[in-house]
Amino acid sequence: MLIAGNWKMNGDPSSMEEFGRMIARAPEATAKGIDLVVCPPFVLIAKCADRATVSKVEVGGQDCHPEPSGAHTGDISAEMLAACGATAVIVGHSERRTDHNETDALVAEKATAAQRGGLMAIVCVGETEAQRDQGEALAVVKRQIENSVPTNLDPARLVIAYEPVWAIGTGRTPSIDDIAQMHAHIRTILEGRFANAPVRILYGGSVKPGNAAEILAVDNVDGALVGGASLKADDFLGIALAAPAKS
Ligand code: PGA
Repeated sequence: MLIAGNWKMNGDPSSMEEFGRMIARAPEATAKGIDLVVCPPFVLIAKCADRATVSKVEVGGQDCHPEPSGAHTGDISAEMLAACGATAVIVGHSERRTDHNETDALVAEKATAAQRGGLMAIVCVGETEAQRDQGEALAVVKRQIENSVPTNLDPARLVIAYEPVWAIGTGRTPSIDDIAQMHAHIRTILEGRFANAPVRILYGGSVKPGNAAEILAVDNVDGALVGGASLKADDFLGIALAAPAKS
């Protein structure tokens, strides 16, 4: 089970106090076999990674550029993240797909770059509300996986996060049946692409301490990608500790 926190564009040096509380409480989760990753904004990665050396909390980035270095003003590479102590990076988050017009092809390049840089690639997929209303959710997610998750990735360092766009930051979540259906669908697609090697599949979108137990108990849900509730140590750990024991 993996619980990943995405701080998005939130946090400054004063957030280190809250991060310190996460580190202090992390052993409660790791004792239950739950892996924790926190993805702060770029400016805090090195600070968080330095603090996290004493704990089992891993630190990740929220995006990376496909190239290892070069003339790309404002961008950060997977290698740079790794050099600052990150062990993972989120790519293809719907906010980047929307705000920066990121295509599946670009997300595929970023996922490849993530693993080239030695990082675990957390690749996000998910349908919009209009796509779900039109009955296209399963097809949209299949297409996103086919086009943004190259088959030559190492499945052991690959995580897929299913995040319905309409559930992100809205307080709304799909029904448990819909989550189960989508995660089973993603499992089938991944088994076909990675010769049955296990790839973890996270659910993301309005996960809170109050709904985590029910969501994390669903078959093929191997963890959560948490936005808003990852900013507070008590909420983030509350989600992690709500995870049922799964094989
Ligand atoms: P949320 O965000 O938990 O605030 O809905 C999830 C995400 O965007 O990863």
